[in-house]
Amino acid sequence: MLVKIFLAMMVIVSPSLVFAQAPKPDSIYEERKVHDPNGIGKFFKGREIAHVMGYQAAGWLERPEREKEENTTKLIESLKLQPHMVVADVGAGSGYLSFRMAPLIPKGKVLAVDIQKEMIKIINAKTKQRSIQNIETILSTEKDPKLPENSVDMIIMVDVYHEFAFPFEMVQAMCKALRKGGSMVFVEFRGEDPEVPIKLVHKMTEKQVILEMKGHDLKHRETIGVLPWQHIIIFEKSETGTEKPK
Ligand SMILES: C[S@@+](CC[C@H](N)C(=O)[O-])C[C@H]1O[C@@H](n2cnc3c(N)ncnc32)[C@H](O)[C@@H]1O
Repeated sequence: MLVKIFLAMMVIVSPSLVFAQAPKPDSIYEERKVHDPNGIGKFFKGREIAHVMGYQAAGWLERPEREKEENTTKLIESLKLQPHMVVADVGAGSGYLSFRMAPLIPKGKVLAVDIQKEMIKIINAKTKQRSIQNIETILSTEKDPKLPENSVDMIIMVDVYHEFAFPFEMVQAMCKALRKGGSMVFVEFRGEDPEVPIKLVHKMTEKQVILEMKGHDLKHRETIGVLPWQHIIIFEKSETGTEKPK
């Protein structure tokens, strides 16, 4: 009887105490109400994720001054591509990099991956127009690059990773797609350098990239600092199994 009275009082005094929802499972992401307007308000390991650059800005990716601003020739030289390699250009956009890499891997191919079907359409149209045989496109999702397992020698993301809505899940899936000893290359605008004229959430520090790769089958091989605005941060697939995020 006493128990019944107690329960009835709990409902009157504080219904939420009685009907409290089960706690949410731990998330590796954090939502914040106060955030940068260029970000989505979702944070991973203290970093705010940026909005995805829409296909309407595809022309900006092809701007003539890009070579001077980003020295894409030097970037591609730094990759040391070999003729037989399979390279995934994840977040390929309009294919600016894919079309520069394809002639350097005549016995291999480029897998140009993007979540926007409009970007994929742009690449397909250019591939057809230029009769290019070794670029294949893949329409991916926010969590899955849809790359076949154990199939690629190198994954490159140029100004892309900071836009991933699910960075942990994407890297986990990309690790599965890499062959043993394969490399994952992050080209990001340098967050350490206030002189780089790019919005804050579209830049990343080397330290943050390394922090975010903890818990994946990757080891940091080198960071190349030859570009005017970006760093090239290279990881190699390691031998250990996939762990949980740390
Ligand atoms: C700033 S653009 C860079 C395009 C290209 N890498 C370049 O440098 O010219 C970023 C691209 O990443 C793509 N992207 C964002 N999140 C993605 C995801 N989870 N998977 C695949 N592509 C993604 C966007 O759709 C966009 O085309």
